[in-house]
Amino acid sequence: MKNAIKASAMAIALSLSTQVNAAEFNFSTKINNKAHALVVFYSQGTPSEAFTKLDSQYNNQLTHTIDIKRFDGKFGEMLEVISTTDSQPQQVIIVGTGKEQQLDKSAIAKLGGNLHARLISNDITTASVVFDSVKGAISNAELAANFAHGANLRDHRFEKYKQKPSTATVSYHFDVEHVKQTRNTYSILHSIEQGVFLARDLTSEVATQMTPLDFANAAKELESLGVEITVLAPKQLKELGMGALEAVGRGSEQGARLVVAHYKGANDTPIALVGKGITFDSGGYSIKTGASIARMKSDMAGAAAVLGTVKAMALAKADKNVVAVMGMAANMVSQFAVAPGDVVRTAEGLSVEIVNTDAEGRLVLSDAMWYAREHFKPEIMIDVATLTGSKIKAVGNDYAAVFSKDDALIKELTFAGKQVNENLWRLPLGYKSTLSSDIADLKNLGSTGPGATTAASFLEHFAGETRWVHIDIAGNALATKGKDEISPGGTGFGVRLLSEWLLSN
Ligand code: BES
Ligand code: MG
Ligand code: ZN
Repeated sequence: MKNAIKASAMAIALSLSTQVNAAEFNFSTKINNKAHALVVFYSQGTPSEAFTKLDSQYNNQLTHTIDIKRFDGKFGEMLEVISTTDSQPQQVIIVGTGKEQQLDKSAIAKLGGNLHARLISNDITTASVVFDSVKGAISNAELAANFAHGANLRDHRFEKYKQKPSTATVSYHFDVEHVKQTRNTYSILHSIEQGVFLARDLTSEVATQMTPLDFANAAKELESLGVEITVLAPKQLKELGMGALEAVGRGSEQGARLVVAHYKGANDTPIALVGKGITFDSGGYSIKTGASIARMKSDMAGAAAVLGTVKAMALAKADKNVVAVMGMAANMVSQFAVAPGDVVRTAEGLSVEIVNTDAEGRLVLSDAMWYAREHFKPEIMIDVATLTGSKIKAVGNDYAAVFSKDDALIKELTFAGKQVNENLWRLPLGYKSTLSSDIADLKNLGSTGPGATTAASFLEHFAGETRWVHIDIAGNALATKGKDEISPGGTGFGVRLLSEWLLSN
């Protein structure tokens, strides 16, 4: 189809990429009568002119069904009408938008995701969506583009291990007011999608196929987009004094890696994004028990999110200078693994007593943060990590926890998160004294105090004078079922938030 944007993106030649048959978006100023279904929006209050016009073409059968079903346009509610008129398509799906003044980017993306899931489960493969019938707090072009974004995010699947991966998808025809503007807006969102998909695939991939080295190789694929990739092996880590990161990697044969991905779309002071990249967290000698160990392939989701963000910025050709620094290791048990009670020295200089090998994230981050500061002198440093179970107890899986003494940055990031359904909730720093050790400068586990906060306060030692934010995404990284723009598996949480923040600041 002419001018269609294929969501599979030729740009990802990654073996990980699993979108078998991607959703397709065509933008024009007309309805496509040949589609299997027509999608119209219906707001609470007075229906739009476009809706009323369509309704009359369908001999008022839309309002007739609305009355019988007592459909009132609540946000996210959908109603299917099978018309007996000659108007095509005969199948019409009415999407409730709630109050139109409240329809913003995040709301319309949710609707896109949920409509997509509905179309797939109803076996509808082509849909014509009438955007004249929707009004919101943002422009028509932004509404349409963000709707497409939500739909395509929901479309992504990780099914490479299935004998019969699902090929079901939808070809969309969007009837919009301003074609060019819509297409331009979607094109940026499409770049962000590719970053999200990379992060999701890296997170969903099983741990034996996503070792620190596999991750480094996946990062190298971004070189074709002009991203500079550096990989440091255990020997170099030792030479640079990065004893904490090196120690966590010691329990697995490959050892740790530091992976750096630098996209230099501008010459200003870089923004550093630091990611926790534990490709499997067994807990080490402080081994995890019970069900908690089963999902620990996703303990590299922070690294995946920051790499995905760099990919998004590179694809969007954003005028940003962004560097992702990722501390990669598998936290395993072996005769070479660190033992509880060991003392390691960080590159920063501080020594750390490892009282619990399961508090490994802060160890790899401490050296990654040091490297980011030392080599890039960033203006701002943001680390993203599946850091603590305590964070899940505090704010659950729908929010990520954010920590910083920088009120302005917290505000900016929280706002950005709201725009893209990646919500942040602030928790305090503090309880530093609980991290003091008898034999080293610090210990890696607070003796008392709230776990998410003591972990964040440990990291604060390694931020130095740099403006710094810590985002704990434990519980956000892996979804068990689809919802809104999320499909089951890795969620890519953080890519949309960071991309939104970078592009709007
Ligand atoms: N990777 C875990 C945190 C985590 C828990 C992520 C659940 C996602 C879901 C982290 O390395 C860890 O093991 N944290 C421990 C720290 C404890 C030993 C101080 C925890 O939170 O239980
Ligand atoms: Mg752990
Ligand atoms: Zn961990």
